[in-house]
Amino acid sequence: MDSTELMIPNHIAIILDGNGRWAKKRGMPRNYGHTQGSKAVEQICEDAYKIGVKYLTVYAFSTENWKRPKEEVEAIMKLLRSYLKTSIKTSEKNNMKVRVIGDKSKLSQDIQDSIMKLEESSKKNTGLNLQVAINYGGRDELVRAIKSISLQVKDHTIDLNDIDETFLEDYIDTRGIPDPDLLIRTSGETRLSNFMLWQMAYTEFYFTDVLWPDFNKVELMKAIEYYNSRTRKYGSVL
Ligand code: IPE
Ligand code: IPE
Ligand code: MG
Repeated sequence: MDSTELMIPNHIAIILDGNGRWAKKRGMPRNYGHTQGSKAVEQICEDAYKIGVKYLTVYAFSTENWKRPKEEVEAIMKLLRSYLKTSIKTSEKNNMKVRVIGDKSKLSQDIQDSIMKLEESSKKNTGLNLQVAINYGGRDELVRAIKSISLQVKDHTIDLNDIDETFLEDYIDTRGIPDPDLLIRTSGETRLSNFMLWQMAYTEFYFTDVLWPDFNKVELMKAIEYYNSRTRKYGSVL
């Protein structure tokens, strides 16, 4: 099929996996894989937008990833720091709007400040909507939503009967963002690892053995071709 005839998913979510294995294969430390992986994220944002993707969500750090060795967590945080800083410039250049999803309150203050700056400076941009999941867990997101809804029920600000699926949508981190149409997970793993549990109720899943730092536009097009071979049932609730 000619790529110009392909239906491009509106929202693509990516579990970028395999950085560590990619580095190990080259006899390099895992952190080198994370550095190369972050470059692949920047490139894929450009590629995705050029082919017409409107929303891209990337899973950068899960609520479970804190259990990794301290040195690795520190190295990932360091990388995130520099990624967030350079994103202020790249988002300006690419007209990209960035939102961080996940529990930001557990991140160090300087990272929280950078996130605020980035979200604020890019909020008027009209190009690609990029969501970066940091300290994100689908279960944690739902617990946080339930807590804040419960508080309002307790205060009688809302009635129990006000709560339905659309209502809950406003309390999760992706409020206002349509559900992903396509999920891509690299490195051959075929699990969800706590990613967007609510949002992926009807998402199509694509798995590839390619390790994340090797993922590029050609691989992205393969995922989109796969997506085009599926028949969608239900889309976003938005
Ligand atoms: C994904 O690569 C990046 C993060 C989770 C931060 P991994 O670090 O999980 O790489 P593998 O799975 O060990 O190869
Ligand atoms: C999932 O990858 C989380 C991110 C990509 C940030 P992991 O490599 O951490 O997932 P598990 O632990 O193998 O399920
Ligand atoms: Mg992994």
